[in-house]
Amino acid sequence: MQKTTQQIIVGLGERSYAIDIGAGLLTRTPLFNALPQQILLLTNTVVGPLYAEQVLDQLSQHKVIVHTIDDGEQAKSLVNYGAIMDTLIQHNFNRDCAIIALGGGVVGDLAGFVAATYQRGVRFYQIPTTLLAQVDSSVGGKTAINHPGGKNMVGAFYQPQAVLIDTECLQTLSDRDYACGLAEVVKYGIIADADFFTWLEAHVQELNARESAALTYAIQRSCQIKAEVVAADEHEQSVRALLNLGHTFGHAIEAAHYDTWKHGEAVAAGTIIAAQLMFQLGELTAVEVTRIENLLQSLHLPVRAPLMQLEQWQAFMQRDKKVQDGTIRLVLPTAIGSATIRPMADWQMIGEAIKAMSTSDD
Ligand SMILES: NC(=O)c1ccc[n+]([C@@H]2O[C@H](COP(=O)([O-])OP(=O)(O)OC[C@H]3O[C@@H](n4cnc5c(N)ncnc54)[C@H](O)[C@@H]3O)[C@@H](O)[C@H]2O)c1
Ligand SMILES: [Zn+2]
Repeated sequence: MQKTTQQIIVGLGERSYAIDIGAGLLTRTPLFNALPQQILLLTNTVVGPLYAEQVLDQLSQHKVIVHTIDDGEQAKSLVNYGAIMDTLIQHNFNRDCAIIALGGGVVGDLAGFVAATYQRGVRFYQIPTTLLAQVDSSVGGKTAINHPGGKNMVGAFYQPQAVLIDTECLQTLSDRDYACGLAEVVKYGIIADADFFTWLEAHVQELNARESAALTYAIQRSCQIKAEVVAADEHEQSVRALLNLGHTFGHAIEAAHYDTWKHGEAVAAGTIIAAQLMFQLGELTAVEVTRIENLLQSLHLPVRAPLMQLEQWQAFMQRDKKVQDGTIRLVLPTAIGSATIRPMADWQMIGEAIKAMSTSDD
Protein backbone atom coordinates (compact mmCIF):
# COMPACT_ATOMS: atom_id res chain seq x y z
CA MET A 1 0.00 0.00 0.00
CA GLN A 2 1.21 3.47 -0.82
CA LYS A 3 1.94 5.26 2.45
CA THR A 4 2.10 8.86 1.44
CA THR A 5 0.64 11.74 3.36
CA GLN A 6 -0.78 14.68 1.48
CA GLN A 7 -1.18 18.04 3.14
CA ILE A 8 -3.47 20.90 2.23
CA ILE A 9 -3.42 24.29 3.86
CA VAL A 10 -6.69 26.14 4.25
CA GLY A 11 -5.47 29.71 3.86
CA LEU A 12 -7.37 31.96 6.24
CA GLY A 13 -4.64 34.27 7.52
CA GLU A 14 -3.91 33.72 11.20
CA ARG A 15 -6.69 31.09 11.33
CA SER A 16 -5.04 28.97 8.60
CA TYR A 17 -4.77 25.26 9.28
CA ALA A 18 -3.55 22.02 7.73
CA ILE A 19 -5.50 19.01 6.52
CA ASP A 20 -3.40 15.82 6.48
CA ILE A 21 -4.66 12.97 4.29
CA GLY A 22 -3.37 9.41 4.02
CA ALA A 23 -3.97 5.72 4.60
CA GLY A 24 -3.45 4.60 8.20
CA LEU A 25 -2.76 8.07 9.62
CA LEU A 26 -4.62 7.24 12.83
CA THR A 27 -1.84 4.90 13.85
CA ARG A 28 1.25 5.90 11.92
CA THR A 29 1.91 9.57 12.75
CA PRO A 30 1.47 11.76 15.81
CA LEU A 31 -2.18 12.76 15.60
CA PHE A 32 -1.73 16.46 16.13
CA ASN A 33 1.11 18.67 17.30
CA ALA A 34 1.04 20.40 20.67
CA LEU A 35 -2.23 19.13 22.05
CA PRO A 36 -3.11 20.46 25.52
CA GLN A 37 -3.48 18.26 28.60
CA GLN A 38 -7.28 18.33 28.78
CA ILE A 39 -9.01 16.76 25.81
CA LEU A 40 -12.64 15.93 25.16
CA LEU A 41 -13.02 13.27 22.47
CA LEU A 42 -16.50 13.38 20.97
CA THR A 43 -17.65 10.33 19.04
CA ASN A 44 -20.77 8.23 18.56
CA THR A 45 -21.93 4.68 19.27
CA VAL A 46 -20.90 3.45 15.80
CA VAL A 47 -17.54 5.15 15.30
CA GLY A 48 -16.32 4.96 18.91
CA PRO A 49 -16.10 1.16 19.06
CA LEU A 50 -14.33 1.11 15.67
CA TYR A 51 -11.71 3.82 16.06
CA ALA A 52 -11.61 5.47 19.52
CA GLU A 53 -9.01 3.06 20.84
CA GLN A 54 -6.55 3.93 18.06
CA VAL A 55 -6.94 7.59 18.93
CA LEU A 56 -6.69 7.02 22.69
CA ASP A 57 -3.50 4.98 22.23
CA GLN A 58 -1.89 8.11 20.87
CA LEU A 59 -3.14 10.29 23.70
CA SER A 60 -1.89 8.27 26.66
CA GLN A 61 0.01 11.31 28.01
CA HIS A 62 -3.16 13.41 28.11
CA LYS A 63 -6.25 13.56 30.28
CA VAL A 64 -8.93 12.48 27.83
CA ILE A 65 -12.65 12.32 28.52
CA VAL A 66 -14.62 10.41 25.89
CA HIS A 67 -18.18 11.60 25.33
CA THR A 68 -20.26 9.28 23.15
CA ILE A 69 -23.50 10.38 21.50
CA ASP A 70 -26.16 8.32 19.75
CA ASP A 71 -25.92 7.60 16.04
CA GLY A 72 -27.91 9.69 13.56
CA GLU A 73 -28.83 13.23 12.59
CA GLN A 74 -31.12 13.65 15.62
CA ALA A 75 -28.02 13.52 17.84
CA LYS A 76 -26.98 16.98 16.58
CA SER A 77 -29.29 18.37 19.23
CA LEU A 78 -29.55 21.10 21.84
CA VAL A 79 -29.89 18.34 24.44
CA ASN A 80 -26.57 16.72 23.49
CA TYR A 81 -24.96 20.15 23.28
CA GLY A 82 -26.06 20.78 26.87
CA ALA A 83 -24.88 17.36 28.01
CA ILE A 84 -21.40 17.93 26.54
CA MET A 85 -21.22 21.32 28.24
CA ASP A 86 -22.12 19.54 31.51
CA THR A 87 -19.28 17.04 30.96
CA LEU A 88 -16.76 19.82 30.29
CA ILE A 89 -17.78 21.78 33.36
CA GLN A 90 -17.98 18.71 35.64
CA HIS A 91 -14.40 17.79 34.70
CA ASN A 92 -13.15 21.34 35.23
CA PHE A 93 -12.06 21.81 31.63
CA ASN A 94 -10.42 25.20 31.25
CA ARG A 95 -9.89 27.48 28.26
CA ASP A 96 -6.71 25.65 27.37
CA CYS A 97 -8.54 22.40 26.59
CA ALA A 98 -9.19 20.90 23.16
CA ILE A 99 -12.20 19.22 21.58
CA ILE A 100 -11.52 16.41 19.11
CA ALA A 101 -14.30 15.22 16.80
CA LEU A 102 -14.08 11.57 15.76
CA GLY A 103 -16.93 10.71 13.42
CA GLY A 104 -19.00 11.88 10.49
CA GLY A 105 -20.56 15.26 9.84
CA VAL A 106 -22.96 14.96 12.76
CA VAL A 107 -20.17 14.55 15.33
CA GLY A 108 -18.04 17.18 13.56
CA ASP A 109 -20.77 19.83 13.45
CA LEU A 110 -21.73 19.31 17.09
CA ALA A 111 -18.13 19.17 18.36
CA GLY A 112 -17.30 22.30 16.39
CA PHE A 113 -20.18 24.24 17.90
CA VAL A 114 -19.20 23.08 21.38
CA ALA A 115 -15.61 24.21 20.72
CA ALA A 116 -16.79 27.56 19.33
CA THR A 117 -18.84 28.34 22.41
CA TYR A 118 -17.30 26.64 25.46
CA GLN A 119 -15.79 29.51 27.42
CA ARG A 120 -16.09 31.64 24.25
CA GLY A 121 -14.00 29.26 22.17
CA VAL A 122 -11.45 26.49 22.74
CA ARG A 123 -9.21 24.57 20.37
CA PHE A 124 -10.92 22.24 17.94
CA TYR A 125 -9.53 19.28 15.96
CA GLN A 126 -11.30 17.05 13.46
CA ILE A 127 -10.87 13.39 12.57
CA PRO A 128 -13.65 12.94 9.99
CA THR A 129 -14.58 9.32 9.33
CA THR A 130 -17.19 9.50 6.55
CA LEU A 131 -16.31 10.48 3.00
CA LEU A 132 -18.80 13.35 3.22
CA ALA A 133 -17.14 14.67 6.37
CA GLN A 134 -13.67 14.25 4.84
CA VAL A 135 -14.41 16.18 1.63
CA ASP A 136 -17.06 18.57 2.82
CA SER A 137 -18.17 19.16 6.40
CA SER A 138 -14.70 19.17 7.99
CA VAL A 139 -13.49 21.89 5.60
CA GLY A 140 -14.69 25.44 5.87
CA GLY A 141 -15.55 26.08 9.49
CA LYS A 142 -19.32 25.79 9.49
CA THR A 143 -20.51 24.32 12.78
CA ALA A 144 -24.10 23.84 13.89
CA ILE A 145 -26.73 21.95 15.78
CA ASN A 146 -30.37 21.40 14.90
CA HIS A 147 -33.39 22.99 16.57
CA PRO A 148 -36.87 21.44 16.51
CA GLY A 149 -37.71 24.36 14.20
CA GLY A 150 -35.06 23.55 11.62
CA LYS A 151 -31.76 21.95 10.66
CA ASN A 152 -28.52 23.83 11.49
CA MET A 153 -30.52 26.68 13.06
CA VAL A 154 -27.99 27.28 15.84
CA GLY A 155 -24.35 27.54 14.85
CA ALA A 156 -21.20 29.50 14.22
CA PHE A 157 -18.33 29.83 11.79
CA TYR A 158 -15.40 28.33 13.68
CA GLN A 159 -12.21 26.96 12.14
CA PRO A 160 -10.38 23.91 13.52
CA GLN A 161 -6.69 23.90 14.44
CA ALA A 162 -6.09 20.90 12.18
CA VAL A 163 -7.87 18.07 10.37
CA LEU A 164 -6.64 14.49 10.08
CA ILE A 165 -8.11 12.27 7.38
CA ASP A 166 -7.38 8.55 7.45
CA THR A 167 -8.69 6.97 4.24
CA GLU A 168 -8.64 3.55 5.93
CA CYS A 169 -11.64 4.60 8.06
CA LEU A 170 -13.75 4.49 4.91
CA GLN A 171 -13.41 0.70 4.68
CA THR A 172 -16.10 0.27 7.33
CA LEU A 173 -18.52 2.85 5.92
CA SER A 174 -21.83 1.63 4.44
CA ASP A 175 -22.12 1.56 0.64
CA ARG A 176 -24.81 4.22 0.70
CA ASP A 177 -22.89 6.63 2.92
CA TYR A 178 -19.79 6.06 0.80
CA ALA A 179 -21.66 6.85 -2.44
CA CYS A 180 -23.14 9.95 -0.80
CA GLY A 181 -19.65 11.31 -0.22
CA LEU A 182 -18.78 10.65 -3.85
CA ALA A 183 -21.71 12.88 -4.92
CA GLU A 184 -19.94 15.82 -3.29
CA VAL A 185 -16.62 14.79 -4.90
CA VAL A 186 -18.24 14.83 -8.36
CA LYS A 187 -19.73 18.23 -7.49
CA TYR A 188 -16.22 19.71 -7.06
CA GLY A 189 -15.21 18.44 -10.50
CA ILE A 190 -18.27 19.98 -12.14
CA ILE A 191 -18.03 23.41 -10.49
CA ALA A 192 -14.27 23.90 -10.55
CA ASP A 193 -12.05 21.40 -12.34
CA ALA A 194 -12.67 19.67 -15.67
CA ASP A 195 -9.41 17.69 -15.39
CA PHE A 196 -10.47 16.34 -12.00
CA PHE A 197 -13.83 15.31 -13.48
CA THR A 198 -11.99 13.44 -16.26
CA TRP A 199 -9.73 11.82 -13.64
CA LEU A 200 -12.82 10.66 -11.73
CA GLU A 201 -14.26 9.13 -14.93
CA ALA A 202 -11.01 7.25 -15.42
CA HIS A 203 -10.86 5.98 -11.81
CA VAL A 204 -14.41 4.79 -11.20
CA GLN A 205 -13.25 1.23 -10.55
CA GLU A 206 -10.58 2.24 -8.05
CA LEU A 207 -13.01 4.56 -6.28
CA ASN A 208 -15.72 1.94 -6.09
CA ALA A 209 -13.12 -0.48 -4.68
CA ARG A 210 -12.13 2.20 -2.09
CA GLU A 211 -8.45 1.96 -3.08
CA SER A 212 -6.37 4.18 -0.87
CA ALA A 213 -4.25 5.87 -3.55
CA ALA A 214 -7.32 6.90 -5.56
CA LEU A 215 -9.13 7.95 -2.39
CA THR A 216 -6.21 10.03 -1.18
CA TYR A 217 -6.11 11.92 -4.47
CA ALA A 218 -9.89 12.39 -4.73
CA ILE A 219 -10.10 13.66 -1.13
CA GLN A 220 -7.05 15.87 -1.54
CA ARG A 221 -8.37 17.53 -4.71
CA SER A 222 -11.85 17.95 -3.20
CA CYS A 223 -10.48 19.55 -0.02
CA GLN A 224 -8.24 21.79 -2.12
CA ILE A 225 -11.16 23.04 -4.18
CA LYS A 226 -13.33 23.61 -1.13
CA ALA A 227 -10.44 25.30 0.70
CA GLU A 228 -9.88 27.70 -2.22
CA VAL A 229 -13.55 28.60 -2.38
CA VAL A 230 -13.73 29.08 1.40
CA ALA A 231 -10.55 31.18 1.44
CA ALA A 232 -12.10 33.45 -1.20
CA ASP A 233 -15.46 33.74 0.58
CA GLU A 234 -15.43 32.39 4.14
CA HIS A 235 -18.90 33.65 5.12
CA GLU A 236 -20.74 32.74 1.90
CA GLN A 237 -21.31 36.22 0.51
CA SER A 238 -20.51 35.13 -3.05
CA VAL A 239 -18.62 32.18 -4.61
CA ARG A 240 -19.04 29.85 -1.62
CA ALA A 241 -22.64 29.39 -2.79
CA LEU A 242 -21.27 27.49 -5.82
CA LEU A 243 -20.71 24.58 -3.44
CA ASN A 244 -24.50 24.25 -3.47
CA LEU A 245 -24.65 22.77 -6.98
CA GLY A 246 -27.55 20.30 -7.04
CA HIS A 247 -28.48 21.22 -3.46
CA THR A 248 -31.55 23.42 -4.06
CA PHE A 249 -33.22 20.59 -5.97
CA GLY A 250 -31.68 18.07 -3.59
CA HIS A 251 -33.06 19.77 -0.49
CA ALA A 252 -36.56 19.61 -1.99
CA ILE A 253 -36.17 15.85 -2.51
CA GLU A 254 -34.81 15.42 1.02
CA ALA A 255 -37.65 17.48 2.51
CA ALA A 256 -40.31 15.44 0.71
CA HIS A 257 -38.61 12.05 1.21
CA TYR A 258 -36.41 12.44 4.29
CA ASP A 259 -37.00 8.83 5.33
CA THR A 260 -35.85 7.26 2.06
CA TRP A 261 -33.41 9.67 0.39
CA LYS A 262 -29.99 10.50 1.82
CA HIS A 263 -28.42 13.92 1.29
CA GLY A 264 -25.80 12.81 -1.25
CA GLU A 265 -28.36 10.82 -3.23
CA ALA A 266 -30.65 13.85 -3.42
CA VAL A 267 -27.70 16.02 -4.45
CA ALA A 268 -26.85 13.59 -7.28
CA ALA A 269 -30.42 13.67 -8.61
CA GLY A 270 -30.46 17.47 -8.18
CA THR A 271 -27.19 17.87 -10.05
CA ILE A 272 -28.64 16.13 -13.09
CA ILE A 273 -31.67 18.44 -13.04
CA ALA A 274 -29.37 21.49 -12.92
CA ALA A 275 -27.41 20.09 -15.87
CA GLN A 276 -30.60 19.38 -17.82
CA LEU A 277 -31.81 22.94 -17.20
CA MET A 278 -28.59 24.31 -18.70
CA PHE A 279 -28.97 21.95 -21.65
CA GLN A 280 -32.48 23.36 -22.24
CA LEU A 281 -31.02 26.88 -22.07
CA GLY A 282 -28.45 25.91 -24.69
CA GLU A 283 -25.53 26.42 -22.30
CA LEU A 284 -24.47 22.80 -21.76
CA THR A 285 -24.11 20.14 -24.45
CA ALA A 286 -25.96 16.83 -24.48
CA VAL A 287 -22.56 15.12 -24.24
CA GLU A 288 -21.75 17.01 -21.02
CA VAL A 289 -25.11 16.11 -19.47
CA THR A 290 -24.53 12.45 -20.36
CA ARG A 291 -21.02 12.49 -18.91
CA ILE A 292 -22.31 13.85 -15.59
CA GLU A 293 -25.12 11.30 -15.55
CA ASN A 294 -22.84 8.39 -16.41
CA LEU A 295 -20.26 9.31 -13.78
CA LEU A 296 -22.83 9.62 -10.99
CA GLN A 297 -24.53 6.41 -12.05
CA SER A 298 -21.28 4.46 -12.23
CA LEU A 299 -20.58 5.56 -8.64
CA HIS A 300 -23.92 3.99 -7.62
CA LEU A 301 -25.80 7.24 -7.21
CA PRO A 302 -29.40 7.85 -8.32
CA VAL A 303 -29.80 10.04 -11.40
CA ARG A 304 -33.58 10.36 -11.44
CA ALA A 305 -35.58 12.30 -8.88
CA PRO A 306 -38.68 10.80 -7.28
CA LEU A 307 -42.01 11.87 -8.76
CA MET A 308 -43.27 15.04 -7.08
CA GLN A 309 -45.79 17.73 -8.08
CA LEU A 310 -44.22 20.93 -9.40
CA GLU A 311 -46.02 22.89 -6.65
CA GLN A 312 -44.25 20.73 -4.08
CA TRP A 313 -40.86 21.35 -5.68
CA GLN A 314 -41.61 25.05 -5.80
CA ALA A 315 -42.73 25.23 -2.16
CA PHE A 316 -39.62 23.44 -0.90
CA MET A 317 -37.24 25.30 -3.21
CA GLN A 318 -38.60 28.69 -2.11
CA ARG A 319 -37.22 27.93 1.36
CA ASP A 320 -33.67 27.93 -0.03
CA LYS A 321 -31.32 30.38 1.63
CA LYS A 322 -30.32 31.73 -1.81
CA VAL A 323 -33.86 33.04 -2.51
CA GLN A 324 -33.74 36.84 -2.80
CA ASP A 325 -36.94 38.93 -2.98
CA GLY A 326 -38.93 35.81 -3.80
CA THR A 327 -36.73 34.83 -6.76
CA ILE A 328 -34.93 31.56 -6.61
CA ARG A 329 -31.20 31.60 -7.38
CA LEU A 330 -29.77 28.38 -8.73
CA VAL A 331 -26.22 27.11 -9.04
CA LEU A 332 -25.95 25.92 -12.64
CA PRO A 333 -23.06 24.30 -14.53
CA THR A 334 -21.86 26.37 -17.50
CA ALA A 335 -19.50 23.56 -18.56
CA ILE A 336 -17.88 20.59 -16.89
CA GLY A 337 -15.44 22.54 -14.71
CA SER A 338 -17.38 25.76 -14.12
CA ALA A 339 -20.64 26.97 -12.65
CA THR A 340 -22.60 30.14 -12.06
CA ILE A 341 -25.29 31.40 -9.68
CA ARG A 342 -28.31 32.69 -11.54
CA PRO A 343 -31.75 34.04 -10.61
CA MET A 344 -34.41 31.89 -12.29
CA ALA A 345 -38.05 32.92 -12.47
CA ASP A 346 -39.12 30.68 -15.36
CA TRP A 347 -40.88 27.89 -13.48
CA GLN A 348 -42.14 26.31 -16.68
CA MET A 349 -38.55 25.82 -17.81
CA ILE A 350 -37.50 24.55 -14.37
CA GLY A 351 -40.50 22.20 -14.35
CA GLU A 352 -39.51 20.76 -17.73
CA ALA A 353 -36.01 20.00 -16.48
CA ILE A 354 -37.36 18.37 -13.32
CA LYS A 355 -39.82 16.26 -15.34
CA ALA A 356 -37.14 15.15 -17.79
CA MET A 357 -34.96 13.97 -14.93
CA SER A 358 -37.62 12.39 -12.68
CA THR A 359 -38.63 8.75 -12.50
CA SER A 360 -41.36 8.17 -15.10
CA ASP A 361 -44.73 7.02 -13.79
CA ASP A 362 -45.42 4.51 -16.59
N1 LIG B 1 -20.35 21.84 8.37
C1 LIG B 1 -20.54 21.72 7.08
O1 LIG B 1 -20.00 22.47 6.26
C2 LIG B 1 -21.38 20.58 6.59
C3 LIG B 1 -21.39 20.25 5.22
C4 LIG B 1 -22.15 19.15 4.83
C5 LIG B 1 -22.86 18.43 5.76
N2 LIG B 1 -22.85 18.78 7.06
C6 LIG B 1 -23.59 18.02 8.08
O2 LIG B 1 -23.04 16.73 8.13
C7 LIG B 1 -24.02 15.81 8.56
C8 LIG B 1 -23.99 14.60 7.67
O3 LIG B 1 -22.71 14.00 7.76
P1 LIG B 1 -22.47 12.47 7.44
O4 LIG B 1 -23.03 12.14 6.12
O5 LIG B 1 -21.04 12.20 7.71
O6 LIG B 1 -23.44 11.75 8.49
P2 LIG B 1 -23.17 10.97 9.86
O7 LIG B 1 -22.23 11.70 10.71
O8 LIG B 1 -24.52 10.69 10.42
O9 LIG B 1 -22.50 9.61 9.36
C9 LIG B 1 -23.23 8.73 8.53
C10 LIG B 1 -23.27 7.34 9.16
O10 LIG B 1 -22.00 6.72 9.07
C11 LIG B 1 -21.58 6.26 10.36
N3 LIG B 1 -20.12 6.28 10.32
C12 LIG B 1 -19.32 7.35 10.39
N4 LIG B 1 -18.06 7.00 10.14
C13 LIG B 1 -18.05 5.66 9.93
C14 LIG B 1 -17.05 4.72 9.61
N5 LIG B 1 -15.77 5.10 9.41
N6 LIG B 1 -17.40 3.42 9.49
C15 LIG B 1 -18.71 3.05 9.65
N7 LIG B 1 -19.70 3.90 9.91
C16 LIG B 1 -19.37 5.19 10.05
C17 LIG B 1 -22.26 7.18 11.31
O11 LIG B 1 -22.35 6.63 12.60
C18 LIG B 1 -23.62 7.35 10.64
O12 LIG B 1 -24.44 6.26 10.91
C19 LIG B 1 -25.34 16.54 8.55
O13 LIG B 1 -25.72 16.86 9.86
C20 LIG B 1 -25.04 17.81 7.76
O14 LIG B 1 -25.83 18.91 8.16
C21 LIG B 1 -22.11 19.86 7.50
ZN1 LIG C 1 -24.03 18.54 0.39
